Amino acid sequence: MRHLIALSLGLLLTSTSTLAATPIVITPDKPGIVIDRHIFGQFAEHLGHGIYGGIWVGKDSTIPNTRGIRNDVVAALKELHVPDVRWPGGCFADEYHWRRGIGPQDKRKSAVNTNWGGVGEPNSFGTEEFMDFAQQIGTEAYVSVNVGSGTPGEAAEWLEYMTSSTDDSLGRERADNGHAAPYKVAMLGIGNEAWGCGGSMTPEFYVDQMKLYAHFVHNYNNAQPMKRIAVGPDSGKTEYTEAVMKAWTEHTWAWDLEGISLHNYTVPEGWPPHSKSTDFSVKDYAVTIKAALEMDGLISKHEAIMDKYDPAKKLALVVDEWGAWLAPAPGTNPGFLIQQNSQRDAVLAALHFNIFARHGDRVRMANIAQMINVLQAMILTDNDKMLLTPTYHVFKMYVPFQDAKLLPVQFDQGKTSVNDIALPNVDVIAAKSKEGKIWLAITNIDPNKSMDFDVSEIGVKISKAEGQTLKAPNVNSINTFAAPKTVTPSAISAKSVNGKLVLSLAPASVSVVELIP
Ligand code: AHR
Repeated sequence: MRHLIALSLGLLLTSTSTLAATPIVITPDKPGIVIDRHIFGQFAEHLGHGIYGGIWVGKDSTIPNTRGIRNDVVAALKELHVPDVRWPGGCFADEYHWRRGIGPQDKRKSAVNTNWGGVGEPNSFGTEEFMDFAQQIGTEAYVSVNVGSGTPGEAAEWLEYMTSSTDDSLGRERADNGHAAPYKVAMLGIGNEAWGCGGSMTPEFYVDQMKLYAHFVHNYNNAQPMKRIAVGPDSGKTEYTEAVMKAWTEHTWAWDLEGISLHNYTVPEGWPPHSKSTDFSVKDYAVTIKAALEMDGLISKHEAIMDKYDPAKKLALVVDEWGAWLAPAPGTNPGFLIQQNSQRDAVLAALHFNIFARHGDRVRMANIAQMINVLQAMILTDNDKMLLTPTYHVFKMYVPFQDAKLLPVQFDQGKTSVNDIALPNVDVIAAKSKEGKIWLAITNIDPNKSMDFDVSEIGVKISKAEGQTLKAPNVNSINTFAAPKTVTPSAISAKSVNGKLVLSLAPASVSVVELIP
């Protein structure tokens, strides 16, 4: 039995109960919304070894570095064309006092990281180092200011320090610290999880605070317009969405916003996170993927509220914390949120990208949690060693989708049952890049079966497809320092035969190909 599901963006998915070869039909001459490159953003918090060890090793380290920042990590991240990095938190941001992290290293004032393991925070990685890191990897800065335990004045001075010219005394102080040119701050996060670690505020209390920050915290650097992002919903809870959106509709000349954030983690089997990141079963895979797919409904729920207040979609929904949150790796500090990263995470990431892309008229930014050594990381490090995770590879494979236009695509998402857990078989997006190239991303969700896909474009004869596939021996396959390439992309190509292009894709795999006429 077949039925059609019409998506809001004009896409059509066909659902069927059969497992036959799946036709994928792309309409190349009807490009839709732009898939904002910022949906591929990252998040780097002062948490565990996310910053210290992961990015910052210090100038005197034997690990090759540029001004204290790891060269191997920078080289790997450049390949991802990271559009923006959110920093310094997270929960950490609401206890961060920026003045402790500027000036000569030996004068920096240490603190205690109360949120994450109660360890010492040396503040050796502060404003100058973050901006240097951002410049080295070629990304934009998304700075979250302290609303919970700071003041609008403290945040305003930080932005003045970062973005003003040297005519301003804080701009001069920055120049004295080695950077005469104003920094660019592309996004300002007005607090973090104000409903939780950011101050347990009622929505009404937060809205009043948020207005002060939106009014008083200025970006002085005209070269970079700055987007202001307010705290929004905690997963499916709607109080913050309602309150912030309602306040925004009544905003005056004195303040404005460009986005509200949504935080939602995939926590298989619920909170607190206790699912293993290694040696898990196919059933655990299915439970996790099912939970990950809930992101779609969650976004729709908040979109409906945002549409009510903002039908023109001026404000973005910024999913600035997402990803798998699993049990801490055995033997590690539980406050450091260290977990392994498997082929399952790669599938989870691809499904999130597809969901964000389809909601791209509202979801114009997202940041995976987190970049290095924390939660669903791109990179794991151990002293001088570094490995790239399956999630890293999916981010890299999706680079052609950055700022490409989403294309209508018809396909049969199918249904499969894995240990009695119902999942779709497949997910697909297609897009046209600025250069006019047609890209197709196919995720074979089924952990047990390879699948064949008949790919065609309306009005165009495809001669071949070329790209990469990320598959693994098992859904729980991981990269380790001893075997860092167990999960690594391989080239795929297919030629059309009698006008037919067939792609055969492995179970639980992610593939991205260019369709060449
Ligand atoms: O990413 C880890 C933590 O998760 C962040 O600090 C916080 O914002 C969220 O609860």
